[in-house]
Amino acid sequence: MYVAKCTRNESFQQGRLSDYGNIKLSPAAGALNYGQGVFEGTKAFRREDGKILLFRPEQNAIRMQIGADRMCMEAPSIQQFVDAVKQTALGNKRWIPSPGKGSLYMRPLLLGTGPTLGVAPAPEYTFLVYASPVSTYFKVKSPLNLYVSDEFHRTTRGGAGGVKSITNYAPVMKALLSAKEQGFSDVVYLDSVHKKYLEEVSTSNIFLVKGNVISTPATIGTILEGITRKSVIDIARDLGSKVEERSIEVGKLMEAEEVFTTGTAMSIGSVGSVTYNCKRVKYKTGNDLVGQKLYKTLVGIQVGKVEDKYNWVVQID
Ligand SMILES: Cc1ncc(COP(=O)(O)O)c(C=O)c1O
Repeated sequence: MYVAKCTRNESFQQGRLSDYGNIKLSPAAGALNYGQGVFEGTKAFRREDGKILLFRPEQNAIRMQIGADRMCMEAPSIQQFVDAVKQTALGNKRWIPSPGKGSLYMRPLLLGTGPTLGVAPAPEYTFLVYASPVSTYFKVKSPLNLYVSDEFHRTTRGGAGGVKSITNYAPVMKALLSAKEQGFSDVVYLDSVHKKYLEEVSTSNIFLVKGNVISTPATIGTILEGITRKSVIDIARDLGSKVEERSIEVGKLMEAEEVFTTGTAMSIGSVGSVTYNCKRVKYKTGNDLVGQKLYKTLVGIQVGKVEDKYNWVVQID
C-alpha cells in the first residue's frame, strides 16, 4: 500500500509503498472521533497484451479534493493522487486478474489522523491507497432486486451526501441489512425533504429507461456524482439516447421499462425488480437492453477492447 502524510495547512510529503498492514493512529484522531475521512474507489485492468490500464483516475483525485474541502481536510494534489494509484497498481501487478476475470480494486483513503479533542480539523492527515483483486460482477444472470426505503435516508440537503465521506456509509447499513434479510439486493433512497424523489442506491447511482430517454437524478449535493454515472451519460448520448438529469418522482420507477445502476464496483448492474410500498414491479433484463449495450461499451473501453475516443484510459506500464 501507498502511504503519505501531511500536517494541517501544508502539502503532502512524498509518499512511499510499503507492505500492506495496520496503521498507527492516535485514539484522539479526527477520523475516529469526528468522522474526518473521505475515500475513493478505482480499478486497474489488464489488457489482452498484458498492459495495465487505469480508468479516469484524475476524476477520483478531483472528487477527493472536493470531499476533503467539505470535511475541512488537506488533500493530495491531482498529480500525487494519480501517481499514488499508479504506484499501488504497479506494486500489486501480480494480483491484477487476467482479462475478463476481474480487476484490481484500489481504495484511496484520506484520514484526519492527528489528535483533536475538541471538534476541529485534525492537525495531521494520512493519505493511503490499498488494493485487492476483485472478480467481474456480471449481473445479467442475477439482476438486482431493489427495495425503496421511505424510512431511512442516506443524507439531507446541506449535508455531505455529495462527497465520498466515510460518514455516509454506516448510516445506510441498517437499511441495507434489513433489505437483505427480506431477500432484496440493495436499497433505493428517496430525498429526505419530500420523501418522493429518487436519490441513489447505497453505493451506486440509478438510471431509468423509457423509450429513447434515459433519466437519472440530478446531482444537487445529496447524491454522489459517480464517475461511472458521468461516463455512462456521455456514452449513452453518443449512442443516440436522450439523457436527462432531473428530479425523478419515485412513481416513475414503477413506469420505467428498464432500470440499471452504475458504480465502479459493478460498472452497470441490471435491475430485475423494484419494491415500493409493498408493490413489486419487474423489468426486462437481458442482453439486448440499453444497460447491456452501455455495459459492453464501458467495460470494453476500460479493458482496452473498444476504442477509447474519450481519452479516459491511462496505460501505466
Ligand atoms: C453512494 C455512492 N453513489 C454512487 C457511487 C458510484 O460512484 P462511481 O461511479 O464513481 O464509483 C458510489 C461508489 O463510489 C457510492 O458510494
